[in-house]
Amino acid sequence: NETLEIRASLLEWYDLNQRDLPWRRISSSDEDHDKDASETRAYAVWVSEIMLQQTRVQTVVDYFNRWMLKWPTLAHLARASLEGAKMIVEEGGVFPKTVSALRKVPGIGDYTAGAIASIAFKEVVPVVDGNVVRVVARLKAISANPKEKLAGQLVDPSRSGDFNQALMELGATVCTPLNPSCSVCPVSAHCRALSRSKQHTLALVTDY
Ligand code: ADE
Repeated sequence: NETLEIRASLLEWYDLNQRDLPWRRISSSDEDHDKDASETRAYAVWVSEIMLQQTRVQTVVDYFNRWMLKWPTLAHLARASLEGAKMIVEEGGVFPKTVSALRKVPGIGDYTAGAIASIAFKEVVPVVDGNVVRVVARLKAISANPKEKLAGQLVDPSRSGDFNQALMELGATVCTPLNPSCSVCPVSAHCRALSRSKQHTLALVTDY
């Protein structure tokens, strides 16, 4: 089944090629029994994803490290009075763990909610940023709309956080808007755009 092959190839590629990023060191520790660890993970994912929406990965690394020195936990940040952090701390200091609960926090939208829920808490939900839209649009050679739906169907239920990060990372490093590196793409065998030689034209469509 093609979906299973895409998941396996993409995750294998990610395991070998993922960038060494400071929030991944926190987010990859698998001590789910350790409540503090999963709270720290959620906080680190939140901070990093907000930063990643605004600037490039290389720039974020430095900002992220300085941020975590200054406000190492959500409680520190709440004292510095960021609204979303204050709300979580006031309601008991435990991170919401699902997209629907996270969406109620001021400042957390669909994208950030999906990232925290999947990466820190393993909820099987998609994370759809511009990179993911492009990768999915090329894989399925669609220029029309149901990208959230397609991304949702694709998510690997056993490793949703890694899968979402793998899709984003593939879009950032291989399946780039211009001149994608199809020869090193782990899912090129499944790419409808490539098999129809449409990988370049698809990149120019702004609203997939
Ligand atoms: N871009 C935004 N968030 C990302 C993540 N967690 N991994 C890879 N690329 C990203």
